[in-house]
Amino acid sequence: MIKIVAFAGSGRRDSVNKKVVKVAAEGAREAGAEVTIVNLEDYDMPIFTEDLEAEKGMHEGGQRFKELLMESDGFLIASPEYNSAYSALFKNAIDWASRKVGDEKPLAAYKGKVAAIMAASPGALGGMRVLVPLRMLMENLGTMVLPTQKSVPKAFEKFDENGNITDEKLDAALKNLGRELVDTLNKLKS
Ligand SMILES: Cc1cc2nc3c(=O)[nH]c(=O)nc-3n(C[C@H](O)[C@H](O)[C@H](O)COP(=O)(O)O)c2cc1C
Repeated sequence: MIKIVAFAGSGRRDSVNKKVVKVAAEGAREAGAEVTIVNLEDYDMPIFTEDLEAEKGMHEGGQRFKELLMESDGFLIASPEYNSAYSALFKNAIDWASRKVGDEKPLAAYKGKVAAIMAASPGALGGMRVLVPLRMLMENLGTMVLPTQKSVPKAFEKFDENGNITDEKLDAALKNLGRELVDTLNKLKS
């Protein structure tokens, strides 16, 4: 079975990116994948420095996050746009999971994986500018990023107070993106 890890680049409790990635995850599940949704803030990763790594070794949460990525086939990522780029929380998690421990292969969390990327913002552009650096980062790490991507403008208006999506077209587009990721992985595996 295809295994997917889904996460948002926001640690905000009421994050709209968390809501967006959850809908895409439903689409991936409907297509037959096993999807694990995680919150990056739960791993409590300190800001990565090489001194910290040299003194204390690999962070336990960073290692757990990395192992989850290593065991998966692909990722669903929804990123907030912070000053036209991704959040420090997201990049820090990516950096920790890029660190090799023992006989792990270099960049084992990323190489040969496939990702689908999304962005959501209250603004009119839907965070679309973050999708460029996000795609570049993931590709440079060895993860193929699907050509299809989705930005969600005025994202706060697309979910009700219970966090349920209210826009049918968006619901379909996000679920289709999740499905497309699973279909692509199935093709690559066959
Ligand atoms: C430091 C910072 C920078 C931001 N820069 C942008 C930006 O460049 N473009 C944008 O559309 N929204 C920007 N925002 C607003 C975010 O899109 C908004 O806070 C959004 O809700 C974050 O996503 P989340 O709900 O998943 O946490 C910024 C917010 C912060 C805190």
